Amino acid sequence: TCPEGRADRVSGGAAMLKLNRSFASAFVAEEELVSYMDEHADVLARCQAGEDRYADSLGWLSVDEWASDAILDRTCALAEQIRSMADTFVVIGVGGSNNGSRSVQAALAPEGARLVWAGNTLSAWELNRVLDELEGHNVVIDCIAKNFETLEPGSSFRLLRQYLVERYGREEAARRIVCTGTIGSPLEDLCRAEGYTFVPFATNVGGRYTALTEVHLLPMAVAGVDIRALVAGARTMERLLRTAPVGENSAFAYASARNMLWDRGYRVELLSFFEPRFRWFSKWWEQLFAESEGKDGRGIFPAAAECSEELHSLGQFVQDGTHILFETFLDILEPGVGDSLVLGGTDVADAFGYLDGKDFWDINKASFTATREAHAGMLPCFTLELDRLDEEHMGMLFYWFAFACYASGELLGVNPFDQAGVEAYKRLMFDALGK
Ligand code: PA5
Repeated sequence: TCPEGRADRVSGGAAMLKLNRSFASAFVAEEELVSYMDEHADVLARCQAGEDRYADSLGWLSVDEWASDAILDRTCALAEQIRSMADTFVVIGVGGSNNGSRSVQAALAPEGARLVWAGNTLSAWELNRVLDELEGHNVVIDCIAKNFETLEPGSSFRLLRQYLVERYGREEAARRIVCTGTIGSPLEDLCRAEGYTFVPFATNVGGRYTALTEVHLLPMAVAGVDIRALVAGARTMERLLRTAPVGENSAFAYASARNMLWDRGYRVELLSFFEPRFRWFSKWWEQLFAESEGKDGRGIFPAAAECSEELHSLGQFVQDGTHILFETFLDILEPGVGDSLVLGGTDVADAFGYLDGKDFWDINKASFTATREAHAGMLPCFTLELDRLDEEHMGMLFYWFAFACYASGELLGVNPFDQAGVEAYKRLMFDALGK
């Protein structure tokens, strides 16, 4: 399940993830950005050190705190045990308890156990579909819930627990249930009472910052992701971002640029990508920024555009609509396995002869570069360039954006680690359900 880490490939000096700002410079001049960053150097220093006032939320800042070699060993051993009894692993979780591992599964399509996602919906149709997906498979479930009050995972867990009991009997079902929860929470009590396997939820990490903890590393490992390589990438990124001075810190440059744009009236950031594999990563990113920054009447609304499809829907607004948007592209520089598909010639006159012999990789790149050039004439465009798409880069991406989000929230003047705003609808909903 977990091969020896490939940490040797991560030199720490190589620019494996780079923020290209050249397509934004007409809107955020480099000199202005540099002086903004210099003026706010104290913010970077505070984020690099980690502030005492956020001590109960900053467990992710030091990757080793929740992804040490000992924790990785333990996670790999449990993943191996799960895979020995199941070909299907149901991950029950919502938001920060779901998006991280789901991003990696969607981006890398690992070849381990199949992951099925539940706990993120109340739709009967969708839950019936999940139950159908389990038929004929050996199943283990993992209920991931930080406080075990959230309705979606709580209700799905009850449904799937009952399914397992009916199918396997109570004793065998108990062997097939893992829960990831806070120590001392009602979920831990339930595990102890029923004999389920209990995995501790990182105590000092909020849900949306847990991508590099057991909350997500366990499902990833079960799915066959090389979690040691992923964590090695994150460690490299931590080393870079927590030591790089103000002028060389790409995450701080991104945080600074987006706050300069906020000051100038930009209200929406579009994360655009030409690989549908990033669909779930974009959900992770949306949650990270929406819950961290959208408060006190402030914050940039994070939205995602899966291209080239969205060029035929959102594209019109992006190019020509109200000037509230800026765009951040994710771009993979080197093709990997499965990234080549050559379109053969044909004797049918289909009017697409100009594509004869071209590779879809290059066709897609042409679409991307043309889009960026066109959009950059109207709005600021940043590009986060990845050498390749693999575990190391996914680990780097998680850390880079988490650090940038912390810094960005600080520059904006909000607490990036709470999310009090989501309580309002919950009160009304719980009232309606008679809780
Ligand atoms: O960032 C957060 O803490 C939240 O968005 C949570 O991830 C989300 O609400 C799920 O919470 P829980 O795991 O407690 O069900």
